[in-house]
Amino acid sequence: MYKNKAVTQWVEEMAKLTKPDKIVWLDGSDEERIRLTQEAVSTGEIKYLNQEKYPGCLFHRTAKNDVARVEHLTFICSRNKEDAGPTNNWMAPEEAYEKAGRIFDGSMRGRTMYVIPYIMGPMGSPFSKVGIELTDSIYVVLNMRIMTTMGKAAMEQLGDSGSFVKGLHSKADLNPERRYIMHFPEDNTIWSVGSGYGGNVLLGKKCFSLRIASNMARHEGWLAEHMLILGVENPQGKVSYVAAAFPSACGKTNLAMLVPPPALKGYKTWTVGDDIAWMRIGEDGRLWAMNPETGFFGVVPGTSSKTNPNALIAASKNTIYTNVLEGPDGTIWWEGLDQEPPAYGIDWKGDPWTPDSGTVGAHPNSRFTAPASQCPSISPEWRNPEGVPITALIFGGRRAKVAPLVYQSFDWQHGVFVGATIASETTAADTGEVGVVRRDPMAMLPFCGYHMGDYWRHWLEMGKRIPCPPKIFHVNWFRTNKQGKFLWPGFGENLRVLNWIISRCEGESEAVKTPIGYIPTVDALNLEGLDLPAGTIESLLSVDREVWKEELNGQLPFLEKIGDKLPKEIMDEHNAVLNRLN
Ligand code: PEP
Ligand code: NA
Ligand code: MN
Repeated sequence: MYKNKAVTQWVEEMAKLTKPDKIVWLDGSDEERIRLTQEAVSTGEIKYLNQEKYPGCLFHRTAKNDVARVEHLTFICSRNKEDAGPTNNWMAPEEAYEKAGRIFDGSMRGRTMYVIPYIMGPMGSPFSKVGIELTDSIYVVLNMRIMTTMGKAAMEQLGDSGSFVKGLHSKADLNPERRYIMHFPEDNTIWSVGSGYGGNVLLGKKCFSLRIASNMARHEGWLAEHMLILGVENPQGKVSYVAAAFPSACGKTNLAMLVPPPALKGYKTWTVGDDIAWMRIGEDGRLWAMNPETGFFGVVPGTSSKTNPNALIAASKNTIYTNVLEGPDGTIWWEGLDQEPPAYGIDWKGDPWTPDSGTVGAHPNSRFTAPASQCPSISPEWRNPEGVPITALIFGGRRAKVAPLVYQSFDWQHGVFVGATIASETTAADTGEVGVVRRDPMAMLPFCGYHMGDYWRHWLEMGKRIPCPPKIFHVNWFRTNKQGKFLWPGFGENLRVLNWIISRCEGESEAVKTPIGYIPTVDALNLEGLDLPAGTIESLLSVDREVWKEELNGQLPFLEKIGDKLPKEIMDEHNAVLNRLN
């Protein structure tokens, strides 16, 4: 069907290994979507939801032991172990091909191999990249349709070129003992076997656009980051874009789809992306960011008309729901939704459930896969082949005591240090252990496809190469009072913080210099119409020297773990903060 030699040869080779009954090359047409959906419905892999209530929506339940990314089974298979660095699992490429190859051997017998050509990034953009995923899962095909530009367009973009990322996926027997997510950065290859969960099997997403792409970016002089991209339009109609990285469970999708509070009249916000940013130096000397995806693969529980109305609307049609509670008559429900739960349903495990069961109905990591185009706040620029120019980069974390609501780094190098040392404290929901600090540099700990020290070095070098670099900030929406209550209302009110950030970049708002960075003066934040108890903003903006000394001390084991490749500049910045605190 398609005549690219390199692709055909590789598909034949992989078919020889996995031995499917049949190979189907996908064109991305609507007819194809309908045919595959019907086929998956007929085998029970997928269900139609109530089409009146949720037009075009589908439901899928993964295996109980297969509901999240598996970091301990995720490997970077570079020739030299050193290149994977101390924060990744490593396996030698020959060993990895051999080990996974044994599981792939015959794994598609009796099944169809689907060939999914896809583009990450807008078609025709010089910054887009092509991948091909071979999979034995229709669920994967239907998700990739939402998350990428797939089919004929991708083969057209590829032309005769042999330059594409090779992704092989098979559910095999969905055995957690025989499950691997292998990345071969030197071969631009991804092998994923034994899982059917999104983050492990939608290979365009974390595997390609972050782990493989971070490697490409390092060699080609750009950045592949775990960042949302958001435009803020002021009442004069000027739009400024920010890109922000937060560890999981810090509200990245919510910030990406923020709704301005009524008190901030005339402001609009525009969603460009909620998870991944590919960023390059533009001809104007600024940093330009592009969202390589065309959909959102978002966490469902907690999504409501209060927390994220835009996500709710984006996911109201043509959306795939995975591992939520299945209610009667093709309905669904999840914890945190506005509506009351149904009187009975089937939970994410496939077991009967009632509100009195004492367990959650939807898995905490249940997901929606929704077309980005359906998001009411989607930016008119979201498919611009050039991307959007970035005014500020924002790092954040969930910190009860340490970090103030917002601070600005002194310069790029200090900003890289701030990003390199971001951390989040676990919530009770995560592990049962509350307040454990997990360091997650640039929110890339599970996604950086090479040595963390080299990655920080690349960030430092990029700063020297960008003529007009964005300013770098840190935010923390999660500071608490002595009673453990959040001090900041968050959600739409976060726009007040973004506005300070943007006006700082324009040299227009006031700040005080502290040992950790610039912090807004109490008057610099617009708090109009926000009813905060007296002293709250002072608490939110305070920097406790003793707490910060402890924080810096707490960074040391992680920095030491990076070893010989830890850039001296990062230690210099660490020591400089310490000196300023003393
Ligand atoms: C995923 O697990 O597929 C995923 C998108 O991860 P996260 O939400 O943690 O970024
Ligand atoms: Na698409
Ligand atoms: Mn993510």
